[in-house]
Amino acid sequence: MKTAICYFSYHHGNTRKVVQAMAQGRDVDLIDIAAQPDASLEAYDLIGFASGIYGFSFHPSVIDFARRRLPRGKRVFFVYTYGGAKGSGAKAIAKAAAEKDAILLGEFGCRGYNTFGPFRWVGGSGKGLPSQADLDRARSFFAALCPAS
Ligand SMILES: Cc1cc2nc3c(=O)[nH]c(=O)nc-3n(C[C@H](O)[C@H](O)[C@H](O)COP(=O)(O)O)c2cc1C
Repeated sequence: MKTAICYFSYHHGNTRKVVQAMAQGRDVDLIDIAAQPDASLEAYDLIGFASGIYGFSFHPSVIDFARRRLPRGKRVFFVYTYGGAKGSGAKAIAKAAAEKDAILLGEFGCRGYNTFGPFRWVGGSGKGLPSQADLDRARSFFAALCPAS
């Protein structure tokens, strides 16, 4: 099953760490949406969308990318990291995917190191997150969605 995970991760690379853990040793293309905003997803059977949570939601660039580039009827999953209040979490990306008749297989979220706003003055929250245990859970989540051939 040809798989891509399209991610946006700019705060501390927390989301990047999670998707890299999922992809490690697997035949998965990681697409950095900031670097490849027009990447084609036509060739993929399974597509992940991953983002930090910024202002209680996925980054708008991920939603915009899905609206522009997700072909109809693909299998999808969502991944996110957040500081402590994920708000609506994957709701906006789920809506964008539903508009393309996507088949949602699941979502994975975990906390990540956060120095946004007032947290910066106290050395941040969630230092050391995502943890190794989080990354192991991420790998298990992905392995269940997409067993190695
Ligand atoms: C501009 C900004 C807004 C954020 N808003 C939220 C939020 O609403 N809820 C939350 O739990 N964390 C929030 N965070 C923390 C991030 O979700 C968390 O650090 C995440 O792991 C960042 O992912 P990244 O390192 O992949 O960019 C925010 C961080 C930034 C920089």
